[in-house]
Amino acid sequence: MDEIQFRSIMLQHGQEKILDSFAKMSGDEKSSLLKQCDSLDFSFLNALKNKEGKRGKIEPIRTMKLSEIEENKGKYEEVGVKAIKEGKVAALVLAGGMGTRLGSEHAKGMYNIGITKPVYIFQRMFENMMEVVDKTGAWVPLFIMTSLINDGEVKEFLKEHSFFGYNPDKVHFFVQDMSPCVDYEGNILFVRPGEFAMSPNGNGGFYSSLMNAGLDELCKKEGIEYINVFAIDNVLQKIADPLFVGATILSGCATGAKVVKKAEPGEKVGSICLEDGMPSVVEYYDMTEELLAAKDEDGEPAYEYGVILNYLFRLKEMDGIVRNEMPVHIVKKKVPYMELSAESPEGYVTVTPDKPNAFKLETLTLDFVRMMGSCLPFEVVRDHEFAPIKNPTGVDSVESAREMLKAVGYEL
Ligand code: UTP
Repeated sequence: MDEIQFRSIMLQHGQEKILDSFAKMSGDEKSSLLKQCDSLDFSFLNALKNKEGKRGKIEPIRTMKLSEIEENKGKYEEVGVKAIKEGKVAALVLAGGMGTRLGSEHAKGMYNIGITKPVYIFQRMFENMMEVVDKTGAWVPLFIMTSLINDGEVKEFLKEHSFFGYNPDKVHFFVQDMSPCVDYEGNILFVRPGEFAMSPNGNGGFYSSLMNAGLDELCKKEGIEYINVFAIDNVLQKIADPLFVGATILSGCATGAKVVKKAEPGEKVGSICLEDGMPSVVEYYDMTEELLAAKDEDGEPAYEYGVILNYLFRLKEMDGIVRNEMPVHIVKKKVPYMELSAESPEGYVTVTPDKPNAFKLETLTLDFVRMMGSCLPFEVVRDHEFAPIKNPTGVDSVESAREMLKAVGYEL
């Protein structure tokens, strides 16, 4: 990018302050900033102009409940196993997050949750994948989305651990894109002169990044029709679960979403519902008191199911969805940044905040549910399939996940 283009983009996005800083930079700093800008998607900044995204009309959606799944188990499993054996199903792990709440300096998958022996989060993922390999006799292709920040260490770690026994030929890596971080006034932050503060652009970036890496072509070549997208941090989940795959295929829906009964109405998970008549996931902070108190015709809470970030997507429909159509969410996070300082020999100091100080701009996987037009909400047993690790202790933590693993007989 040249200076003229840079100036025009900065003005277009109200970044006059950045132009002031740019004017004071050395030649090297200017060139490195312009180089960094080549790979940045500034359209994400448009989200700042339209912060109050309005929700449509929210109504309950029919969920396929455990009893219905149990009744049709044989049929669903048969269809799912067949699709997996025919190589039509791949798995995709979202492992590009920063794991800021967990506070580890490495990728979340490298975190050791073991007590008497090492048990890594990545290890749990491969163990969960081996269940389906053992059941079907087929290796499920696995796409691993990393970020520019953790790509190198993740690859090295998995190689060092021989992919925890998984077939390395079936594993494909790709790196997600980054977006700039801004302060609460909307100004892009710097980490040092000549370098913007950036963060991975949210887990919804997986499809565009997969395409950028040319892996959508690989999917077509190999005849992959469905992709099971899941979070790295749920250490108790079924991956490419034949039952879920079969039920979704037979439903004819373009997506399937695993859901659990919420622990309490306000639990911090997205609620599955209809929005303006279309399947949708409403984030917990968009659920009003009225919606939380609403009851269905059986007198049960109308929005009692929450998503666990484990979806099945039909690739045919994903092809039509490009990144620019995806809503960009504004998330408050802790972002280290540079402050100019005459006292420091470098002319600046790095400020590491201890509470959120900035906005990150992210697209979210859950938005695909609405954009793809049809969804099968599929209930799973919380104690068997939902142990997310967000924090070191407390709710959704290393501690709570360990307890859940022990309860299903897993030795830590
Ligand atoms: P979270 O939104 O919980 O974020 O990610 P996180 O990075 O794990 O943790 P915090 O919020 O910084 O503490 C849910 C899933 O989405 C992935 C994460 O790796 C996790 O599997 N993710 C998140 C990405 O792959 N890319 C992103 O940009 C963000």
